[in-house]
Amino acid sequence: MKKIALVFGTRPEVIKIAPLYLELKKSKKFKPILINTGQHKEMVAGMLAWFGIKEDYNLKLMQKNQTLESITARVIESTSELFRKIKPDIVLVEGDTVSVMAASIAAFYLKIPVVHLEAGLRTEEIYNPFPEEMARRIVSRIASVHLAPTDRAFTNLKKENISKSVFNTGNTVIDALFYTTTQISRKYNKIAPMYVPGLDFDKSRVILVTMHRRENFGKSHRDIAKTLVKIVDKFPDTAILLPLHLNPNVRSVIQPILKGHKRIFLIEPPGYVPFVYAMQNSYLILTDSGGVQEEAPSLGKPVLVLRTNTERPEGVSAGSAKLVGVNPEIIFKEASKLLTNKKAYNKMAKTKNPYGDGKASKRIVKILEKL
Ligand code: UD1
Ligand code: UDP
Repeated sequence: MKKIALVFGTRPEVIKIAPLYLELKKSKKFKPILINTGQHKEMVAGMLAWFGIKEDYNLKLMQKNQTLESITARVIESTSELFRKIKPDIVLVEGDTVSVMAASIAAFYLKIPVVHLEAGLRTEEIYNPFPEEMARRIVSRIASVHLAPTDRAFTNLKKENISKSVFNTGNTVIDALFYTTTQISRKYNKIAPMYVPGLDFDKSRVILVTMHRRENFGKSHRDIAKTLVKIVDKFPDTAILLPLHLNPNVRSVIQPILKGHKRIFLIEPPGYVPFVYAMQNSYLILTDSGGVQEEAPSLGKPVLVLRTNTERPEGVSAGSAKLVGVNPEIIFKEASKLLTNKKAYNKMAKTKNPYGDGKASKRIVKILEKL
C-alpha cells in the first residue's frame, strides 16, 4: 500500500479534501494520512467531524494576525519534519493557500511526488488574487499529477506546457456539497441547522455575504460594507446575513460599518452544515469566496462576485455568476436588478453547475490507482 499524505490547513481545503480522503480509505492501494497544518484553527474545528473523519496529525501553526512569510516558513519547516518522520510515498495538496504551496516545497526538497488537487485555476495576474495566483503556479511546477476541476483549468495547464499526468476530474467541492445537502434533508428536516436570533429566512429575502480576500482589505471592504447598508435600506423586505471571517484585517474594517443595523446580521463563522443551509435558504449571494462561487449554482442561487477578476470564470460563462468588482455603484446596481427583476434573477438561478457532478473523488481514486 502506498502512503499518501493529504495536507490541508484552511477551511476550503478541509471541505474539498474530505470526500477524497473518504474515497481513498476504501482503496486497497492507498493508506491515506491526514495532516492538518493548523493554518486555520477555529474555522476548521468541527469541519472534519461532519464528514466523520479525524486528522492523524495537527501541526497547530496558526498565530493571530500571522504574516504570509511567517506562516510560509512555519509550514515548510513543520511539514518537512513530519514528512521525514512518517515517510509518505505521495503528498497530496488542494488549491492555492500558503499551506498548499509550502507543503509542496517541503515535499519537493525531500523528492516526494506531489499530487495537486484543483490544479490549473488562473487569473493570469500575479497579484490578483494575492498570494493565491502565485501559490498555485508554484505548485503546478512542482506537482507530478495535476487534477484539474474543469475543461478550462485543464487547458490552462496545457498552455503552460504541463502535458503529462493532467486529468479533468470535476471539483470535489461538489461531492462535499451533495453529501451535505443529502444529510441536511435527512437529519435536519424538523430543526434547522442554523438559528440566528431575529432572522427569519421565510419572512425576509436573505442576502448572504462573505468576504475575506487580501486584495480587498481596507478601502474595497469599506466600500462594499457601505454599499450593503444602502442595499438593505432600499429594500425593506431584505436582510443581510454576513458570517464574519476571523481574519482581523476583515473584521476591523467592516464590523464598525455594519454593526447595529436592524436587518444586518453579523455572525461568527458557521460550520459547513449551517453555512450550506444558509446558502440554500438565501435569495442572493454576494461573495469573494472561491468555494462559494462553485457551490451556489448547484443550489440555484445567483452570485455577485465581489472581485475584479476570478480564476473561476466558468460560473460567469454559464450565467450563474456576475463579476461586479468592488465599485459601489456597480454592486448596488446589480444587486438592485436581481432584487427587482424576476426574469434576470431566474436566468441566473437556473443554470447548470459547471464545476462538477459530485463524482470527482471516485474518478480521482481510479486515476491514482492506475498511475
Ligand atoms: C486563507 C488563505 C486564502 C483562503 C482563506 C480561506 C493564504 C495566504 N490565504 O486566508 O487563500 O481563501 O484562508 O478562508 O493562505 N484566523 C483565526 N482563526 C481561524 C482562521 C483565521 O483567528 O480559524 C485569523 C488569525 O488571526 C490568522 C488570520 O485570521 O492569523 C489570517 O489567517 P490566514 O490563514 O493567514 O489567512 P486567511 O485570510 O484566513
Ligand atoms: N464556508 C463555510 N462557512 C462560512 C463560509 C464559507 O463553511 O462561514 C464554506 C463554503 O461553503 C465553501 C468554503 O467554506 O465550501 C469556502 O471557504 P472560503 O470562502 O473561506 O475560502 P475560498 O474558497 O475563498 O478559498
